[in-house]
Order: sequence, then structure tokens, then C-alpha cells
Amino acid sequence: AEYIAVGELANLMGVSVNEVIQKCIGLGLMVSINQRLDFETIELIASDFGFEVELEEEYLSDLIEEEDDPGESLKPRPPVVTIMGHVDHGKTSLLDFIRRTNVVAGEAGGITQHIGAYKVALEDGKEITFLDTPGHEAFTAMRARGAQITDIVVLVVAADDAVMPQTVEAINHALAANVSIIVAINKIDKPNANTEKIKQQLAERNVLVEDWGGKYQCVELSAKTGKNVDLLLEKILLEAEMLDLKANPDRPARGAVIESQLDKGRGITATILVQKGTLRISDPFVAGTAYGRVRAMFDERGNKVKEAPPSTPVLVLGFESTPQAGDTFAVVESEREAREISIKRMQIKREQEHRQVRHMTLEEIANQI
Ligand code: GTP
Ligand code: MG
Repeated sequence: AEYIAVGELANLMGVSVNEVIQKCIGLGLMVSINQRLDFETIELIASDFGFEVELEEEYLSDLIEEEDDPGESLKPRPPVVTIMGHVDHGKTSLLDFIRRTNVVAGEAGGITQHIGAYKVALEDGKEITFLDTPGHEAFTAMRARGAQITDIVVLVVAADDAVMPQTVEAINHALAANVSIIVAINKIDKPNANTEKIKQQLAERNVLVEDWGGKYQCVELSAKTGKNVDLLLEKILLEAEMLDLKANPDRPARGAVIESQLDKGRGITATILVQKGTLRISDPFVAGTAYGRVRAMFDERGNKVKEAPPSTPVLVLGFESTPQAGDTFAVVESEREAREISIKRMQIKREQEHRQVRHMTLEEIANQI
């Protein structure tokens, strides 16, 4: 079995990807950043950096059988897009502009509540789902739990600034996760904007944009004036078309927890991104160690919805306990089964935590000697 990729391993250990690649070469392995490694290799490399690796019983992906969807059941689905980039480079502004200008016509009042993900409907009936939340940590946590949630990363870089540490981090995350990258050079309305400099710096990080002969689509835009934002949406749709994204809508829903909230009136709620199948009212489900039954669902504008097909984010009511961002979400046969899986997972999780605590204590003792 193969586990994490070279890039992820480097991230987890806080060392550069190059160092890990060098170690691999030392072991006679020619690898790329996206290459997944087997356990023995991971163990060897990690020990060189002073880490000990342990295979843990996976409490989140066990117990629910995963059957492959037959090819003929697959239908096109909208792309799921995450906006990433350095602090203040304009991620929120860009999302806000897209949302403001693509509110479904006739829906007065606009956005009434914030949920961590939303879907925009474009004129020609095409849709794009944007994820608002994942900071880098959430993104990493989700990936660690095996929840691959995004198809495309829009990498925002401010033209009046430079490629910064979080830009590089976002590039590494996207490459390690093997998701498409579209570059959005933002703030071109600023007098000191220098888009060529940004392209140059990206090239130094192996992100060569199209007009520099590379494979990455790139848009120069302004989230403030809205210039070329429509072009970005077009490029997202183009990328999505090339990715040929599909899912089976006619099966019990599967997805990921984007975020959870405790609401005074409604109790525990969570934003779920449905990835395959269709989520419906009264479906029993497991989400990480939490479980429940769908009592009600709402879209990002607070409208009640009865069904959530693939690539749809919905706010779900009906949790018995609080799930965590990045937890996998799965509809099961009955509420009883949901509860049983939840109990079993909690057991396994407790055992793991117990082991970890003991481990740390021993280390501390060793450090004190
Ligand atoms: P964090 O969430 O803190 O990481 O920042 P962010 O990337 O979401 O940036 P945000 O959208 O909050 O924008 C940061 C600042 O840049 C704000 O003052 C925005 O008004 C400004 N800004 C964003 N986009 C543009 C743009 O295209 N042009 C100009 N002139 N200013 C912009
Ligand atoms: Mg922001």
C-alpha cells in the first residue's frame, strides 16, 4: 500500500521538499513531489529526520464499505474550488465579488447567513462551488483525514506585493494534493502592480504560467474593480471541463464536513459538502465520530432545501454530537447503524489518544533525564 506523497511528508516534518527528494535519491528512488511512498520508505526517511512513524488503525474510514460507482452511473458535477494565497492578497475580496455579482436573480435580500461554502450559478446554467473556509491548517487536517475536497485551487497573489511564504505553502499543498492550480494575480488596479515580477517569482517555484510557456492558467484581475473576474470564472469552467468531473448522484450521499457550529436555537449544525450521491431529509449519517439524521437542510442563503446532489454545500441540522472540519460524512442504512459506527469509532479514537498521551509522557521523562 502507498500512503502519503513526498510533498506531504515534507510538510508534516517541516522540512523542504528538496531534502526529502534528496533522501529518496539516496535510497535509489527518483521521485517527484506528488509521488506516494510506501510505508517502509516513509519510515526510513522519517527516521533520518528524527521522526518515528506508526501505522494507526484508521477510525474514520473503517466500517463503512466503499463500493465503486459503475461508469454509466456517473454524471457531470460542478467543480469545487478553493481560494488560497498569502494574507491580505485579496482572497475574501475575490470571493465576495464573485458572490455579489452572481446572486441568483430575483433573490432579494442576498446573503442572510454565512456558511463556509457556496455555489454560484452562472448565466449558461453552469455552476461552481467555492469553499470559503480552508485556511492552510484546515486544508492539511482535511487531507490528513483523507478528505480530498477541492478540485481546483485558485492561487491569489497580489501584484503589488510578491510571492510570499503562504503563497509557497499553498503551491505545495496543491501540488501534493494533485489538484489543479489557476493563478489569479490580484490588485492590478494598483499603480505599483507588477504582474511580470509575480510570474517570474512563480516560475522560480516551478509554477510556470501559460504566457510564459507553462501549463498553468493565469488571470490578471482586480477583486476591487471586478476587472477580469469573469475571465477567472471562464478559466475555472475550462479547467473543470478538462478534469471531466463526475459523480454518481443516485446513491447514498458521501462528503466532507467543512465546518460545524453550535447554534442556540437549532443545536449542532454543520456545513457538509456532498461529493457523491444525493443527501436527503431524514437520511441517517455518520460524520467522523458524530452521527445523526438529517432533520433539515439549508443553502447558503438560508433557503430550505430537500435534496443536495454532488458538489453541493448544505447546512445540515440533526447531529447528535459535534463533527470536526475535515471529517468524512457518509449516509448509512439506519440510525442504529450510524450510532453503532459512531460508538466504535469513538472507542478506537480513545485508544489512540491514550497511546499518544503515554508516548508523549515517556518522551518528556526522557527529556528531563
Ligand atoms: P486574509 O483573509 O487576512 O488572509 O486576507 P485576504 O487574502 O482575504 O485579503 P482581503 O480580501 O481581506 O483583502 C486585503 C486588503 O486588500 C483589503 O483592504 C482589500 O480591500 C484589499 N484588496 C483586495 N483586493 C484588492 C484589489 O484588487 N485592489 C485593491 N486596490 N485592493 C484590494
Ligand atoms: Mg480573508
